[in-house]
Amino acid sequence: MKAALIHEIGGLPELGEIDAPERDSGRALVEIDSVPLNPIDVALASGKHYLGPPKTPYVPGSEGVGRIVEADSLEPGTRVYISDDGLGGRGRDGTLAERATVVEEEALELPEGVSDELAAACGTAGLAGWLPVAWRAQVGPGDRVLVLGATGTVGLAAVQAARIKGAQRIVAAGRRPEGLEEARKVGAHATVRLDEDDLAAALKEAAGGDGPTVVIDPLWGEPLVAATEAAAPGARFVQIGQSAGPSATLTSGIVRGKQLEIYGYSNFVVPADARRAAYLELVSHAARSELEFPVQAYPLERVGEAWERQVNGPGAKLVIRLN
Ligand SMILES: NC(=O)c1ccc[n+]([C@@H]2O[C@H](COP(=O)([O-])OP(=O)(O)OC[C@H]3O[C@@H](n4cnc5c(N)ncnc54)[C@H](OP(=O)(O)O)[C@@H]3O)[C@@H](O)[C@H]2O)c1
Repeated sequence: MKAALIHEIGGLPELGEIDAPERDSGRALVEIDSVPLNPIDVALASGKHYLGPPKTPYVPGSEGVGRIVEADSLEPGTRVYISDDGLGGRGRDGTLAERATVVEEEALELPEGVSDELAAACGTAGLAGWLPVAWRAQVGPGDRVLVLGATGTVGLAAVQAARIKGAQRIVAAGRRPEGLEEARKVGAHATVRLDEDDLAAALKEAAGGDGPTVVIDPLWGEPLVAATEAAAPGARFVQIGQSAGPSATLTSGIVRGKQLEIYGYSNFVVPADARRAAYLELVSHAARSELEFPVQAYPLERVGEAWERQVNGPGAKLVIRLN
């Protein structure tokens, strides 16, 4: 069968042929339709992820949307979202192939009314925006939520999660003006460019009151430092990623004086039941047209081109179509 293959760490995926996987009992054999690319796929393939480099050659792709070919408890033809289970170089070959297998618990039946691409975007990226808002920070009607990196897919998911959870005010901060416009369209009340001269003052003013009560942070680095200066006393920060840099110098007096609460977040450490339930909740919002993301699809034959774009700043959720 056709598959994308990483032949060496640091290289681009190339189209190749591998043997189709066999199904063991308790596993679902899935014909793959759509696979989103994520920063983790790139980080693993470049050897920069903290989980370490996969053994080569391997098939990347840590999640996907497809149809059941054969399973113990799911009917053939059932449309499912699959993830986890070591897919994509974390123990087994991934989803960028015509077929993949996954433990059946990780094959989640999709509702009607959600496109493959949207269901794909709701996975790793959607959950990394949804769960920090809904589960880690438990955003509610009294909150003023600042989303850093709101122009990326995780950030756009966080903006929409904050809207759905009834946040009083939502501020989207990012670099690309068109991405900030998208964030406003899906629920942000105000937007702030990260290159503002006095970023902390701009973030505080946009949030209103004594600053944001919740900060959702896929960036770290300088934007996070500015957000601590802008934050209200007792603000909850949820740290998701390091797109702006792996380190940040925080001022002790600010963290102590405001009694800031800084939580870490990783999809990997969310209990599996909670993660699956959150995915189904998120995708049901998507099926009711309450969530959207800019998506750009590429055929499998152009996976190398899509991969390079993912490395350099995708500007949309990139999804590889296999069927
Ligand atoms: N913890 C988890 O479980 C988890 C799960 C998924 C993702 N993540 C992490 O979350 C982050 C966002 O993921 P994503 O899927 O949304 O990626 P994405 O769609 O590629 O978006 C990247 C975001 O980072 C911004 N950005 C990139 N470089 C920047 C820089 N030097 N300074 C400031 N902003 C910068 C981009 O801004 P512009 O578009 O405005 O340029 C965009 O908002 C990544 O770091 C990813 O590794 C973590």
